[in-house]
Amino acid sequence: MSLIENIIRPEIRALSAYHVPDSAGFVKLDAMENPYTLPSDLRNELAKRLAEVEMNRYPVPSYTALKAAICANLGVPNGFDVVLGNGSDELIAMLSTACAKPGAKVLAPTPSFVMYAMSARLAGMEFVGVPLQADLTLDLPAMLDAIRQHRPAITYLAYPNNPTGNLFGADQVLAIIDAVGDSGVVVVDEAYQPFAQTSFMSRLPEFGNLIVMRTVSKLGLAGIRLGYMSASVALLAEFDKVRPPYNINVLTQVAAEFVLQHTPILDAQAATLREQRENLRLALTAVPGVHVFPSAANFLLLRVQAPTKNGDAIFANLLEHKVLVKNVGKMHILLENCLRVTVSTPQENALFIDALKAALLSS
Ligand SMILES: Cc1ncc(COP(=O)(O)O)c(C=O)c1O
Repeated sequence: MSLIENIIRPEIRALSAYHVPDSAGFVKLDAMENPYTLPSDLRNELAKRLAEVEMNRYPVPSYTALKAAICANLGVPNGFDVVLGNGSDELIAMLSTACAKPGAKVLAPTPSFVMYAMSARLAGMEFVGVPLQADLTLDLPAMLDAIRQHRPAITYLAYPNNPTGNLFGADQVLAIIDAVGDSGVVVVDEAYQPFAQTSFMSRLPEFGNLIVMRTVSKLGLAGIRLGYMSASVALLAEFDKVRPPYNINVLTQVAAEFVLQHTPILDAQAATLREQRENLRLALTAVPGVHVFPSAANFLLLRVQAPTKNGDAIFANLLEHKVLVKNVGKMHILLENCLRVTVSTPQENALFIDALKAALLSS
C-alpha cells in the first residue's frame, strides 16, 4: 500500500478537489459576485479603519459587536443570535461535523449547491440527493418520501436554488420542515436573499428545527468570507462548539462592521442587479436557440437548445471571447447543455450577449 492509501480515507481519495478556474483577463461571470464596489469615500474611510486594526492580536472569539450588527441590520428576529462562519461554506462544514453520528444522513434536492454533498462526504455522512423535476422545480412528493425513508439529520434547501436560480414554493419548504420534525434540522440557505427578497428568517420562532443560513458574499463582500446562521439558542450553542474559535479574522470583522453601517448602499446595488437580471433575461429570451429558466437569484441558468444543442462548444467559444461563465452541463443529467451566468453591469451583460450570439453563430 502507498503512503496515500495507508493514511487517506478512501472516500476522500475518490473525491475531486473543488476546482476554481483562473479568471485573469476574463469578463468574470462564473461565481455570482456583485460587480459593484463601495463608493470611493467609503473605501477611504474603510482603509483608515483597517489601518487601525491590531493585527498582532487574535480576534476576540465571541464577536459580540459583529454579531449584534448582523442581528440588528439583517433581519434576525428578537431573541435570536447568529453563529459566524468563514463564508457559509464553513457553516456547512460545521453542521456536518456536529451531526455526523454513525449512519447520519444529509438530504437535499439535486442539482443544488455542491458543498452540501461534498461536506457530508468529508464528514463521513451519507448524502441523499432527490432529483428536481424536469422543469427544475422541487419534487415535493419525492422529497417527503425520501425524508420518511432516510430520516436525514440535515436537509438543505437553497432558497433560491443554485445552480438553477429558481425559488421553491414557501409552502413546499413548510411541508418539508413539518415532515422532518424532531428528527433533523432543515437548513434554508438564503445565500441569494438580496435578489429574492423573501426569507424564512422572521419565521424562526415558529420552528425549532429550522436554521436560516446566509452569506455576505453575493451582497458584494465575497472577498471577506463571512457567513452567518440563525436558529434556536439551544441549536446554535451546539454548533458553536465545533466552530474554530478565531474563524473570523480581525480585518473581516472590522470591514463587515463598517459596511453594515452602510447597508442602503448594498441594498441599492442589489436593486440595480435585480433590474439588470430582468433586462438580461429579456435579451436572452430573444436569442434563438437559448432557453432561459426563471431566476430569483443574481444569475441566470440557460440551456443551449436546437439547432446547436452543445453547451460545451458554446462554453469553449465564450472562453475564446474572454467571457467566463459556469458550464454546469455535466453536473447533473437535468442540466444537460446548461450554462450559468452571473448578472453583472449593463456593459458586462451586453458583452456576454454579444459573445453568446457570436458563439451560437459559429457552432
Ligand atoms: C446556495 C449557496 N450557499 C452557499 C454558498 C457559499 O457562500 P460563501 O461564499 O459564503 O461560502 C453559495 C456559493 O455559491 C451558494 O450558492
